[in-house]
Amino acid sequence: MAETAADATASTPGQDPNRRDFIYIAAVAAAAGGAAAVAWPFIDQMNPAADTLAAASVEYDLSKVEPGAQVVITWRKQPLFIRNRTAAQIASAVKDDHADMKDPATDASRVKPGHAQWLILLGSCTHLGCVPTEGGGKYGGWLCPCHGSVYDTAGRIRSGPAPKNLELPEYTFLTDTKVKIG
Ligand code: FES
Repeated sequence: MAETAADATASTPGQDPNRRDFIYIAAVAAAAGGAAAVAWPFIDQMNPAADTLAAASVEYDLSKVEPGAQVVITWRKQPLFIRNRTAAQIASAVKDDHADMKDPATDASRVKPGHAQWLILLGSCTHLGCVPTEGGGKYGGWLCPCHGSVYDTAGRIRSGPAPKNLELPEYTFLTDTKVKIG
């Protein structure tokens, strides 16, 4: 039978016990490392698939977004707009709640109660998926550079070929300044 590292240390007479202990520990550590290396491919196979990871939720600290500004983060492999709307932008959207629209929705239905300043949207034009530009267009919301769809400050489609409002992701407020998306 092959002699193990531990056996080898045990069969060396007169050796310093501390040195023997060290060799023994080193041998066990090396064996454990080898086992981990062998086990890794199996453990790795048990990791969630890439598409599952892509579906994971993200938390975002809203205090990073200045009033009137927008940040774009990546979520589920696509851009997500987080916009800190000013009072004027909110008022402009509310004023048009009953305007003639392709995809009618009130401003209040596009935000969470008590958090009207925060508009969180998928940054993907509902026409063919381009990323709309913030602040463009007649309504000060977004303008899609691809074919000219215009969204207002609630992300509602107001003109151009896009058929629907910018999509709202699922999200919840964990605190007044932190959201969990997904
Ligand atoms: S993709 Fe936005 S208008 Fe066509």
